[in-house]
Amino acid sequence: MCGIVGYTGGRNAAPILLAGLGRLEYRGYDSSGIALIQNDNLIVRKKQGKVEDLRLSLEREPTASLIGLGHTRWATHGVPSEQNAHPHVDNANRIALIHNGIIENHAAIKEFLLSEGYQFYTSTDTEVLAQLVGHHFHANLADAVRAAVNQVEGSYSIAVIAPEDPLTIVAARNGIPLIIGIGEGEYFIASDTAAFLEHTNQIITLEDHEIAVITPAGVNVSAAGQQHIRKEISTVASNLEQIEKNGFEHFMLKEIYDQPRALEAAMRGRIDPGGINYHEIEVVLSYLENASRIYLTACGTSWHAALIGEYLLEQIAGVAVEVEYASEFRYRQPLIDKKTVVVAISQSGETADTLAAMKMAKEQGAMVIGIANTVGSSVSLASDETIYINAGPEIGVASTKSFTSQVMVLILLAKALGERTGRLDARAAANMAQAIEALPEMANASLGTAGQVQEIAAQFERSRDFLYLGRGLNFPVALEGALKMKEISYIHAEGYPAAEMKHGPIALIDENMPVVCIAPRDDTYGKILSNIQEVKARRGRIIALTSEGDKGINKLADHVIQLPETIPALYPILAAIPLQLLAYHIAVGLDLDVDQPRNLAKCVTVE
Ligand code: M6R
Repeated sequence: MCGIVGYTGGRNAAPILLAGLGRLEYRGYDSSGIALIQNDNLIVRKKQGKVEDLRLSLEREPTASLIGLGHTRWATHGVPSEQNAHPHVDNANRIALIHNGIIENHAAIKEFLLSEGYQFYTSTDTEVLAQLVGHHFHANLADAVRAAVNQVEGSYSIAVIAPEDPLTIVAARNGIPLIIGIGEGEYFIASDTAAFLEHTNQIITLEDHEIAVITPAGVNVSAAGQQHIRKEISTVASNLEQIEKNGFEHFMLKEIYDQPRALEAAMRGRIDPGGINYHEIEVVLSYLENASRIYLTACGTSWHAALIGEYLLEQIAGVAVEVEYASEFRYRQPLIDKKTVVVAISQSGETADTLAAMKMAKEQGAMVIGIANTVGSSVSLASDETIYINAGPEIGVASTKSFTSQVMVLILLAKALGERTGRLDARAAANMAQAIEALPEMANASLGTAGQVQEIAAQFERSRDFLYLGRGLNFPVALEGALKMKEISYIHAEGYPAAEMKHGPIALIDENMPVVCIAPRDDTYGKILSNIQEVKARRGRIIALTSEGDKGINKLADHVIQLPETIPALYPILAAIPLQLLAYHIAVGLDLDVDQPRNLAKCVTVE
């Protein structure tokens, strides 16, 4: 995905755009660029690399413009390069355009434009769209954008400026978020409100197939067929503090430390029927209770949370659940009928694979439930009912607090469903509620292992591989620990069910292989201890996560991280925290860019 930002008003646009791009960099950071209108000319500046590189180049040659567009890119079509960076212009240099999304029929449109004599200088689908807008631009910019988007297939949020209409931004969206910020005599557009939150918290959310014409005098939104649409103005719920590092070195670290608060926010009012936020849980329960089949679907970290959800719903509520990667779900012709419930889990609420799976399930008659973090996101709009995890903005590319908050919501669902199905009796439910209420404090204690984890990280930062082992509920935690390690430290890591190790991965173990074993004192403890023995016998180096006071593991493990005692259902949350910290400290030790790891973007809006 990419980040887009725009400004029109009475101030110098470039610094506003650069600050906005800085806040959107989590969405893509392989190149960036801005377009301005200065003395009736389009000025376009682009740089490969980070927004900081663009800022430095602009400092060398300052600009003065009251309008502009900015873009930070995550490459889809065409390598990351200055040439492929946005904004793109048409051949006549009459318009500049920024785009987030994919134009699926770009090849056919390009062929048509080539036959009309247009020339292309980049390998992007976006340049095709810029030329198409230019092709349709006779007198009115909005008409040109409308004519162009009516010809394209695919997903987009775009914004266009033209010196012939020097105060106007024309913006349009289909399937990719685009928000308009309303200031005093000035307006902003962006992929995410974070880009302009320091200027205004009043917003209009553009919806699919709408086109907005934005000038310092106001906003006019119309449908594809030109009819005017009256839009509601709303107030952004998040504040500046939530989108700043607040003294932490990285967003990832801030978000790891935010977990006790986020867990509290996820559970607030939802533990007991009648709680203030219990309503969505109750509605979802009635769907789940009557379901013929339940699927949980998601990608990446959210898929790991779904796997934990499967264990929880089966063990605590006694209902059968299948978990599917969203990217695979619709290609395997899943059995779906009108009584099927599909639960889609997504932090961003904009992951293309997850949205496509939801769409397919819906078309086949399923009831679709979203577990999302972002209010008003595409996942929540596509769901019959949404449960919000309420974690607050997550900016670090590696998911941390959203994972534990997703698991929290799944625990609450399993508990409530277990009470309904009768699998969880009143006493067990009360015990569980008590343990859940104590969880934020336990998460704090889990954070207390940070010093020890940092020391361990220093010893292992030169490792080439890591193995993560867990059983039952903690197997997905092993997967998540390995994913964190891979994505931010670029060290190869694999997660395995501990007992599966002897069916293959054991061949990898020697004195250089760190093996992280998640071994709480639950009913698989004895078995995982045997697996740890197997690693030890092959001279593997063991980092064990276990319950407070456990001495059994001390003789075997090289490092023992003790976590607070809790019920087994909650252990994945406590165990995830030191694993996040381990990946974090290794990446910092290796001097890597923790918040913006290479090749990744916070949200993947392409399939
Ligand atoms: O926003 P989503 O939860 O739908 O994102 C799904 C994955 O792209 C995401 O969890 C990704 O795996 C994380 N960045 C991993 O830390």
